[in-house]
Amino acid sequence: MGGRARLEVELEQLTQQIRYHEAAYRAGVPEITDAGFDDLVERYGELADRLGIDPSERLDVQPGQDHTAGFETVEHREPMLSLEKLSPNRRGSSGEPMALSDQLSAWFRRRRKELEVDELPVIVEPKVDGISVSLLYAAGELRRAVTRGDGHKGDVITKQVVQLGTVPTKLERAGKGEIEIRGELYWPLAEFARFNATLERPLINPRNGCAGMMKRKDPAGLEATGIRAFFYQVAWNDGVELPSTQHEVLQWLADRGAEVYLSEVFQTTTEEEALQYCEDYQARREKLDYDIDGMVIKVDDLRLYARLGATGHHPHWGIAYKFPPERKPTELLDIEVSVGKSGKLTPVAILEPVFVSGTTVSRASLHNFVELERKDVRVGDTVLVEKAGEIIPQVVEVDRGKRKRGAKRFVAPNACPTCGTEVVSEEIFVYCPNPACPDQVRERLRHFASRQAMDIDGMGEVLVDQVVDRLGVRSPDDLFRIETSALAALDRMGEKSAERVKAGLEVAKGRGLARVLNGLAIRHVGETMAEDLAAYFKTADSLLEFAARYVAEDEEAVETVAPAKSSERGAIEGLARKSADSIFHELDAPAVRKVFSGLAEVGVSLSVEAADVREVADVAGKAFVLTGTLPTLKRTEATKRIKAAGGKVSGSVSKKTDYVVAGDDPGSKHDKAQALGVEIIDEAALLALLGEPD
Ligand code: IVH
Repeated sequence: MGGRARLEVELEQLTQQIRYHEAAYRAGVPEITDAGFDDLVERYGELADRLGIDPSERLDVQPGQDHTAGFETVEHREPMLSLEKLSPNRRGSSGEPMALSDQLSAWFRRRRKELEVDELPVIVEPKVDGISVSLLYAAGELRRAVTRGDGHKGDVITKQVVQLGTVPTKLERAGKGEIEIRGELYWPLAEFARFNATLERPLINPRNGCAGMMKRKDPAGLEATGIRAFFYQVAWNDGVELPSTQHEVLQWLADRGAEVYLSEVFQTTTEEEALQYCEDYQARREKLDYDIDGMVIKVDDLRLYARLGATGHHPHWGIAYKFPPERKPTELLDIEVSVGKSGKLTPVAILEPVFVSGTTVSRASLHNFVELERKDVRVGDTVLVEKAGEIIPQVVEVDRGKRKRGAKRFVAPNACPTCGTEVVSEEIFVYCPNPACPDQVRERLRHFASRQAMDIDGMGEVLVDQVVDRLGVRSPDDLFRIETSALAALDRMGEKSAERVKAGLEVAKGRGLARVLNGLAIRHVGETMAEDLAAYFKTADSLLEFAARYVAEDEEAVETVAPAKSSERGAIEGLARKSADSIFHELDAPAVRKVFSGLAEVGVSLSVEAADVREVADVAGKAFVLTGTLPTLKRTEATKRIKAAGGKVSGSVSKKTDYVVAGDDPGSKHDKAQALGVEIIDEAALLALLGEPD
């Protein structure tokens, strides 16, 4: 597989992971921490940039929003930012991967230059993997504990933190003023293992367990968990005297009973020694009683921080070194082929169970058959397994030295393993083209009912499997026709659960066209495309009428979405000719038309929901391009608001662009806008257009 194809596959995997974790998060059962989620989003952004994906085509995600319903939120006086990371994926100006040592040297060089010094004292600290917390003390008393939230506003978890009994409720000798200190709540591994052994359904790992525990509404019992916090920063202080270096501040905190890892820090003035310490520390990782995911290198002199400044995302006084993910060898017992909702066949490795990065892994996706062949993975091989983003297990490579004689190559199937239909290939993927394939039917219905799509309360995967196997449901509209009594008779159901599911179905009927389109698992129609199609066509009738014309090669229809002149943009941002062909052909297929009429029959709304779009006269129909870092809005948020107001956001400036919204470091789009005479506005002007002045 070529470099680009590989990146595309990784982007697709990340998309699925991010959607999954967002849904788990919204459902109040997060499986990863904010930092873990941020990493996924960051990697997604990096890949999307490298692949040149238009912003309007990207996943609309905000990193690390940890708000939980029912928790009071408060604004942080100083935002809780992230750290810039040394990244094995970063490339230099020549496009070659940049060694971590070169990245760190560049970072040191920039700081020295900005500060006009020859020597820069830094401190290197372990980066503990838990959930960030900010504690406000007034006159030495703990007043408030707040999660990071979206970095600007967090959830108040004071009761929960106090109940732990491991975080000081008093800071001795901290004067009469106010001070906010920041740290990480974490679950020591031995305490976690002890606590987990008492649970019927064990928690996945200490990180997620800690995040879940701290969001318990009732704090009773939290003292039995053994969760604690370590502190690494004073965010601000008013009327409290503090020393002027980070290492002295850590000592100051330790003297007042706050846990800090003074014995684990290292001071130096050179990047070589800093990096060496990070690398050496990795060997100690296994022996620690807590998870760390890397190290943090910080300028030691706090008086320099204001001069170094920050972006909206990270301060310039520190940088993170992330450890490479853990890799473990295990035996590949078998290769199975699974059939996805759109018919895609995916090889799956069945593994001798192995413990990697906190969980036992027994299955791992092998992505596609081209990748399988490239890695030359054979049944019986010893393979190395790691977790991408520390979550989804992957087979990284084969240990060739351990290959047994007779290990057989796996040949991609010519027929679907489930229904026997001859497969078709599209680019690097292989599909079962039979929409009635039992696996596809099941996967499509699971997707339709899922949180990302119709969000049918109570209709989880286990129930979907039962309605397929026992009630003969085959099509999304059938779901709405199931009788309460039939639901009640299923395993682990009963009258009450059946009524809840019926009520869930009733609510789902009103979710609107975008959710329905996303739910139908049409190839190339994800969340964003579904929203864009719904926003443009407004009703399923007009969409289907258009699809018929497109398929019949009606010139006007084709020209509307896929203009012949490559310089022109189609009516639907990000919809290229190839995907348009695929989408409209699929929409026009009799089976899909039948689903639409079935859904209409049972009363599912097939028009855009009024709440989704609130057109704003100055923005509706206008084309925007965003460039540079905006002072307060994230790019995804700005895109969302413009779209919600009826505007379009595109990735490149042309004569058709109405406004270029420029932030810091705007780059070439700004210059092009000037050359073309396109109006350039700032964030405040954008907010004014949106009717939401600053
Ligand atoms: S300094 C601007 N020091 O890692 C944030 N952070 O991405 C400055 N963390 O959210 C943070 N150990 O929760 C700092 N020794 C340490 C840390 C640490 C863990 C977490 C923290 C922050 C994230 C940075």
